Amino acid sequence: MCGIVGCILNKEVAPTIIESIKKLEYRGYDSVGIATLTDKVNIKKGSGKIKEVDEKIHLTQVDGNIGIAHVRWATHGNPTKENAHPHNSCDNKISVVHNGIIENYKELREQLESEGHEFKSETDTEVIPHLIEKYMNEGNNLLHATQKTIEKLVGSYALAAICIDEPDKIIGARKESPLIVGVSPNGNFLASDVPAILNETREVIYLEDNEIIQLEKDKVTVMNNQLEPLEKEIVTIDWNPEMAEKGGYPHFMLKEINEEPQVIKDTLSESSKIKEIVSKFKNFNRICFVACGTSYHASLIGEYLIETQLHIPTEVILASEFEYFQNTLDDHTLVIFITQSGETADTLKALKTAKKISETLAIVNVVGSSITREADHVIYTRAGPEIGVAATKTYLSQLICIYLLVAHLGENDELIDKLFKIADLAEESIQREENIKKIAKKYKKSKDFFYIGRGFNYPTALEGALKLKEITYIHAEGYPAGELKHGPLALIDDGIPVVGILPPGPSYPKTYNNLQEIRARGAHMIILGSEDDKQIDDVEDKLVFNSEIDEIIAPLIYIIDLQLLSYHISVEKDIDPDKPKNLAKSVTVV
Ligand code: F6R
Repeated sequence: MCGIVGCILNKEVAPTIIESIKKLEYRGYDSVGIATLTDKVNIKKGSGKIKEVDEKIHLTQVDGNIGIAHVRWATHGNPTKENAHPHNSCDNKISVVHNGIIENYKELREQLESEGHEFKSETDTEVIPHLIEKYMNEGNNLLHATQKTIEKLVGSYALAAICIDEPDKIIGARKESPLIVGVSPNGNFLASDVPAILNETREVIYLEDNEIIQLEKDKVTVMNNQLEPLEKEIVTIDWNPEMAEKGGYPHFMLKEINEEPQVIKDTLSESSKIKEIVSKFKNFNRICFVACGTSYHASLIGEYLIETQLHIPTEVILASEFEYFQNTLDDHTLVIFITQSGETADTLKALKTAKKISETLAIVNVVGSSITREADHVIYTRAGPEIGVAATKTYLSQLICIYLLVAHLGENDELIDKLFKIADLAEESIQREENIKKIAKKYKKSKDFFYIGRGFNYPTALEGALKLKEITYIHAEGYPAGELKHGPLALIDDGIPVVGILPPGPSYPKTYNNLQEIRARGAHMIILGSEDDKQIDDVEDKLVFNSEIDEIIAPLIYIIDLQLLSYHISVEKDIDPDKPKNLAKSVTVV
């Protein structure tokens, strides 16, 4: 999983390319590199985040009006300088950046080595410049050599190649990894994702699998894999560059949390479109959600809602486990795929299987992403670009879509009215931030956390724990409130922080009792509950919410405070919450 950029301009290209690749750092930050063309291929690359590498080797100080760049999330080979992209051919005339995995690279490498090619890295990618070199040596131009190369590749790729013998073009290709083209009067761009080109242009062409592109300064030619030209639509993107910037906040994550009240309104404005989509569903008697990570937690809330409100049998399958459950799908199952990026490889793979048997719906944030092009129906979550690795506003927007879906399926106007009231209640969460900061300071040194909830709020406990783990590196577990006494209660010791999610509603009495059992064993309680709840008056650390937020609506509001709690603990621990170690925003490997 990586990010790539390529561009041709009528001026020095390096400063523009490095600005662009910075916008893709959410896709990986193990290493970075750039290659430009003059009378030779000029390469600068190193391991680490872009800022660190730039400080050491000044990435923008390379000449040339044409270039490619890469940020890496290591899959094959350690995150070293040698394994950083771009990778070159033996004669150093050809340079390539690649996102994806070449599954048959070992065989290709052995073959190329037996023909005399010398490899300098451990990466799967390096077979690509050597194959292009081989085909160019046989008399093909860069375009034809790239086409012949991708015929040999098994796996996924979005790639860009340049060559000093043809210094006026970049050749790109995609299969199962995202690639877009940005078109502008000053030159043209290739990139893994839209934020990379927003400073330069909003005119975008989305490439499909098996398409090849030839990029020149004044011309963009998209072709199929037989090199026949294709007519492609140019889409105007309505995100502006500022939307992809930090907007004055110290981190993207905090900015994105603060955008949540607006995101709720934006996503609610999709209500009539969702109603229309619901009217097109065929008959179904069962629903399956498929998702990963945070999107999986959103799906779990969907399961509780559908089972309780619509009485339709529903299950939630982790996309990476989907193959073990696919055999029971039929043409009366509606399969719903939830994904922020629309590129998660496990989810995409499951969708490709499910669509052969069942009707499919995708709930996705990134317009034009791979999953939106595979599903029968698509609902866009409209959260705007999310750069922080931890999903925050996109989770909330997924939930709003799920709630709207359930409300329209059940013709439940009362639920729709409740939803339209919540944006103001979300504003109040942001106002509790000072209290959240105090709690964060108090517990920043804790080694373990528990998050406890029941019913609709059990997935909130899971999501609260996931947010804490990923950006603070503190061990955390989410549990259904009634489940602790079956084992985990043994872990409760003096001073261990336990976050109890205790909104008003039918589940309240049981959850309250479970929390008392935990408290009696010496845990430090952090309770999220109603401002009218007298029973929590004696709890020192609490976050209290408007009492209109009942247990059905609570997942949409309480989570904001849990996101803020994780954010502030992360900052207290001097961790960069936008770029937690070992993780990347878009997981395009299975
Ligand atoms: C956690 C997080 C991940 C993603 C997961 C699925 O904060 O963001 O757990 O939710 O990688 O990603 P998408 O939703 O893009 O399919």
